[in-house]
Parts: sequence; structure tokens; C-alpha cells
Amino acid sequence: MQILTSPQELAALCRQWHTAGDDIALVPTMGYYHAGHMDLMRHARGLARRMVVSLFVNPAQFGPDEDLAAYPRDAERDATIARELGADALFMPEPGSMYAADHATWVEVPELARGLCGQSRPIHFRGVCTVVLKLFMLSQADVAVFGQKDWQQQAIIRRMVRDLNLPVRIESRPTVREEDGLALSSRNVYLSPEERAQAPHIQQGLLLARSLVEGGENRVPVIRDAVLAHWVRHLPLGRLDYLSIVHPQTLAALDTTDGPALMACAVRMGKARLIDNILLRP
Ligand code: PAF
Repeated sequence: MQILTSPQELAALCRQWHTAGDDIALVPTMGYYHAGHMDLMRHARGLARRMVVSLFVNPAQFGPDEDLAAYPRDAERDATIARELGADALFMPEPGSMYAADHATWVEVPELARGLCGQSRPIHFRGVCTVVLKLFMLSQADVAVFGQKDWQQQAIIRRMVRDLNLPVRIESRPTVREEDGLALSSRNVYLSPEERAQAPHIQQGLLLARSLVEGGENRVPVIRDAVLAHWVRHLPLGRLDYLSIVHPQTLAALDTTDGPALMACAVRMGKARLIDNILLRP
């Protein structure tokens, strides 16, 4: 596995691979790998002759009061994992090589980025889209793999790819969870033991919503109130950021769950902001 820090070197290497007839799968990450990242890499490994993993804690997607400085990092361990999972290249750029001091170009999908996480993270998806487009162009990826825990992110990236006619296929993978149901996240390390003990109730609430819908309930306010009541009882250390039921692709808010519906949430627990989601099928 080659470890590259220069965007120009990554572009040159990937151009060479394409010229030789090799296709390229990209796994964009911010590092501190857990089983969810490993699943993305294992999946990507089977999709193309070459696999590029990027590891970049992208400053542009963090707001001024967010955890950029504290974001957990362990580049050495991450490199070992990427190598073991068959990456051909690990791209670990410095922020200065991705963003010039007078960087002024942004990619946005405002219609999909305003709701859900965008309400409390107004610049987040602009930062995500911009860096992901840069990574697509540098790696010249034929396919890129994202996790469904970040549902809004992958919906926005799919829209960006469609709207800009980017020659890359997007694949997404189901959320990987702890045995007790907590969605894996690099930010779970922020949880105190008490918060960690309550955190699986985030998913328990979402599963309750699914069982209500499967039982015939279709009114969004009723479903939402039931989940909130579950959290009031079982998740007292959690502070609600949002809990919404939206169309899975357009992310438009829904009044009923008669068609395709996604329940998505963000809950703050201590220093952590945890997101999760579930598809609701009548
Ligand atoms: O999901 C993430 O880890 C990041 O948002 C991504 C896609 C690597 C862009 O920085």
C-alpha cells in the first residue's frame, strides 16, 4: 500500500492505474477506524481492481464550535487496518494541500442540506460536498462507498453526482452496530459510561417507530411522539437535536408514512452528537 500526502501524487497514480486499464474504488473517511469503516473497505475491495482509502479530517465540514481539534485520530493504526484490508493507496493530505489559504470555491446542494443535520450544522454539507468532489476528481474513482448511518450525506452526494454528471457510481452500506444496537461512530469514544449505557435507546426508539408503522400507524406526529416518550423514559442524558420523518431521497418532511419514509435523528449526549436512522415500511 502506498501512503500519499500530496493531491498531485494521488492524481498521477490514479491516472497511471486508469491508463493501465484498472478501475478504482474510493472509500472516503475521516479515520479512527471501527468495524463500520472496515465494512466499507471490504465492500470496496470487491468492487474494483484498485482501492483508494482517503483519511482526512476535513476542517471545512466542522462549524466553529464543533469538535475539529478533539476529533479522535490514530493514523498509524488506521494505516495498518487499511493495508490489511487491501487498500492500494492511503491518501492522507494535510489541510493546507487541500485548501489554499484563499480557498473560495464551494459545492452545495442547499435543498437537501437545510433540514435534518443541516439545521444545527449549517456549513457541514457544503464542506462535505466540496471535499468529496475533490476526492472524486483526484482519485478518478469509478465507484465510491459511503455508510448509511450518514443517510443525509449519501443522499446529498448522490444528488451532487447526478446534477454534475460525475462519472462515479455511489454505493452505500448498512449501518454497523454494537451488539446492543448503538450505531458505530468514531465519536462514541466521547461517551461517559452512563451515557454509553443509555445510548442504545436511540435505536430502540427508532425500532419502536418501525413496529408502530408495521402495525398500521401512519401519522407522523403520533409516531414521533411515541419515540420521544420512549427517550424521555430511557434516555434522560440525551438532548434532542432533531427527530424527523422524511422521504428517503428528497429528504422532504412527510405527514404520513404511506410511502417510502425514513426516520432520522440526532441526539446530543455529553460531548457527543449521535446520529441514527431507520427506514419505515408500512
Ligand atoms: O463521512 C465522513 O467520514 C466524511 O463526511 C467524509 C465523507 C469522509 C467527507 O469528509
